Amino acid sequence: MLKKTLFINESEKRVVVDPEVTLAEVVRKQMFLTGTKIGCGKGTCGACTVIMNGSAVRSCILKMRDVPEDARIITIEGVGTGNHLHPIQLAWIVHAAAQCGFCAPGFIMSAKALLSQNQNPGKEEVREWFQNHHNVCRCCGDDPAVDAVMDAAKLLRGEITTEELWSKLKEQTNGSPSGSADAAVAKVTGVWDFGADLGLKLPEGTLHAKLVTAQENQSNILAIDTSEAEAMPGVYKILTYKDVLGTNYISQAAYASGSGRDGAILSDKKAAAFGDAVAMVLAFKPKLAEEAARKVKIKTESLIEGIPAAEVGDRDLAPSTGFAYLNEKGKLIIHTSHTDISHRELADSIGILPEKLTLVPNPAVGMGNARPAAVSLEGLLGVAALAVKKPVYLEL
Ligand code: FES
Ligand code: FES
Repeated sequence: MLKKTLFINESEKRVVVDPEVTLAEVVRKQMFLTGTKIGCGKGTCGACTVIMNGSAVRSCILKMRDVPEDARIITIEGVGTGNHLHPIQLAWIVHAAAQCGFCAPGFIMSAKALLSQNQNPGKEEVREWFQNHHNVCRCCGDDPAVDAVMDAAKLLRGEITTEELWSKLKEQTNGSPSGSADAAVAKVTGVWDFGADLGLKLPEGTLHAKLVTAQENQSNILAIDTSEAEAMPGVYKILTYKDVLGTNYISQAAYASGSGRDGAILSDKKAAAFGDAVAMVLAFKPKLAEEAARKVKIKTESLIEGIPAAEVGDRDLAPSTGFAYLNEKGKLIIHTSHTDISHRELADSIGILPEKLTLVPNPAVGMGNARPAAVSLEGLLGVAALAVKKPVYLEL
């Protein structure tokens, strides 16, 4: 472990961190500054951009061992608030550059770093800056962001007033700013919660789920040995198909978007595809759940000898996340990024009456949520929450 002093948003913090974790994780999980988003997690989307010692950095690829002592870090929470928007945040709203808003904190931090070096950039310079700093917007490309930076720069140079900039928004909305103005403010100030942000705000005692998955297409499952994982302190329970109270089956047609496929929520005697969930480890800490999942042994027999296992490419989208819990009336509430699933079919598959099940959509992410390889994230969450009667969080 490393002990470091950091100045985060001008406030001195002493942190004890694992040198191998990233700055993004420390900011989000130890500082609870969830305005910094993690999209790709590998440096290609810019959602995690913060300013460190004056430079825009992608915090998802910056390990804590490489963060200098006394580093001065600014996150979106240190830029402006709803009552005191920074010119860049204001321009972002005016130019509707935050649609889903997932990319906005990273873009705004990047723009802030640019304007602190150069208050009079040309349009092409702004565009090039965003390209060089890997800022990507899946919803609207970079045109609105570039326009927003040009206007923010004018405001910072004193060439236009705040009122004049606001009036552009009023012109676009026929004099009455849209009802989603509050949402826009929340998105540009980093207080709008997406699925993974909500997951960090769940109560104490929430269980973190990690899947043990099939490593090849079409295999018979001969045995599942959970004993070593179960013996690990902090592991609460390991679920298999035997714990599913319903049909355990989801059909391809269950997802209205057509993105589903036929299969078992937790594979029983056979795994149809690479990535199918065979067991689900529930533990009080995500890292522990991950370690325990590696200790679950699955004995399989391939049904298609000679065909190599599917490879999983790196995720280049925001994670697919969800959580589930039983409310005070015993109703199962599942928060998910994929609410297009048939309510009745999901209820039957996990073994609950449809009227006892509510699906709540996570805020949509323009970067797109990675489609889980597992048959149904929602099914897994439902199975887990019904089995342990505790809140369960799952990120794939
Ligand atoms: S660049 Fe860091 S999350 Fe994509
Ligand atoms: S607004 Fe940029 S990804 Fe949605």
